[in-house]
Amino acid sequence: TRTNDDLTYPHAEKKTIADHLRKYEALFTLSPQRMRMIVHAFEETLDKGLQKDGEIVPMIPTFVFGYPSGKETGEYLAVDLGGTNLRVCLVTLHGEGRFEVTQTKYRLTEEQKQDEGQKLFDFCAECLGSFITDNLGRTEKDEELPLGFTFSYPCSQERIEHGELIRWTKGFGAPNVEGHDVGAMFEKSLKKFNVRCKMTALINDTTGTLIASNYVDPNTKIACIFGTGCNAAYMEQAGNIPKMDELGLAPEQDMAINCEWGAFDSFDHQHLPRTKFDIIIDESSNKPGEQSFEKMIAGLYLGEVFRLVLTELIESGHMFLGQNTYKLEKAYAVDTAFLSLMESDPTDELLTVIGVFSYFFGLETTLEERVFFRDLAKLIGRRAARLSACGIAAIVSKKGYLEEGCAVGADGSLYNKYPGFADRIHEALVDIFGEKGKNIVTHHAEDGSGVGSAIIAAMTKSRKDAGHH
Ligand code: GLC
Repeated sequence: TRTNDDLTYPHAEKKTIADHLRKYEALFTLSPQRMRMIVHAFEETLDKGLQKDGEIVPMIPTFVFGYPSGKETGEYLAVDLGGTNLRVCLVTLHGEGRFEVTQTKYRLTEEQKQDEGQKLFDFCAECLGSFITDNLGRTEKDEELPLGFTFSYPCSQERIEHGELIRWTKGFGAPNVEGHDVGAMFEKSLKKFNVRCKMTALINDTTGTLIASNYVDPNTKIACIFGTGCNAAYMEQAGNIPKMDELGLAPEQDMAINCEWGAFDSFDHQHLPRTKFDIIIDESSNKPGEQSFEKMIAGLYLGEVFRLVLTELIESGHMFLGQNTYKLEKAYAVDTAFLSLMESDPTDELLTVIGVFSYFFGLETTLEERVFFRDLAKLIGRRAARLSACGIAAIVSKKGYLEEGCAVGADGSLYNKYPGFADRIHEALVDIFGEKGKNIVTHHAEDGSGVGSAIIAAMTKSRKDAGHH
């Protein structure tokens, strides 16, 4: 085993691990004052996004008109193309906030994310086709089930079953989809594979989460996803959405807005305290300059922030001397799940951390190093949660929800699996708003991409049956 004396090259500056930690602490910590500044800029950006000329944050009207009644019932299909998996669900809504879900999950490969766009929709259609055959056994005579398609990327919509992809996010790059109507592309694939269903609504996961959470808890006014990507949705009144004026809606008409807040501070980078690690991630991504907020928060990137810090310490000769670090030097080699594991290691020796480093990277670690890794993970996870709180606070303050309080439905791997993520958000809300911050409470949301999408399909169907567009 190694001792701590091995930690530095003879020629490297004699810095202790504690010195390093202090340096990173300064880099990754957000003071309450700094958060309030971010909230202020964030709120302005959200406002601008609702104007006619738009802004960096798209603030997309979703054609989901208001909250569900809770009385929605029936059988619906849902296809959910998220950042990591494809999911196909059959959802039965019983009304009164009750439902059942049968689902199948498929892992998306890296190739599929970059391959010709239409092929991705073909894959969705094929999976849906076999799911229907396996689970429904419907015949030609049966009525086609309505389908909600959850496509969780920024799409500008003119109607609910339409959506033009503004840009890929979360590392996707499939050609010939940006600028195209993904609703139409999916329908083309459904025809090609003879899949019997009626595409009724194209939705974002955040919108689905807002509707599904409100279905079971009407106090829910904001929905967030903290997963591979990071985004939020809330309900806005048409009178506050200048870019929808032409539609001539009544000013008090509710409409869910998919914020696409991951784009906050893109390109200009004026508001977020990006470190050199964030800049490396951005510049080596397939979309440099874009999704600045998301790149500091989402599960796709946190492990990479951690890895880049370690790379810096390896290069300066402060870590893993005499060991072969090539495995750790590969971009994206550290999954965000490792950070969760390290943070939740209950042992004094940090045995989980030993395991992670030796099993995945073939590296030996000292206890002092392991404590440093865990503390570093904490800094990165805490920063992500505090930035997330800034986004929530911006919506709360814009909508004036602070006094009466509201529930925030949250979903995604980071929120559900990262230890302490929710607590850190709540702590930050108090740092931003003072004691009143306690009026804003996040909780694990209902499955927006499945159940939410079904409820939206049901709401849309009854709107259309009643003769609305
Ligand atoms: C990305 C997508 C957005 C989605 C979020 C969470 O930010 O652009 O549409 O809601 O990830 O999945």
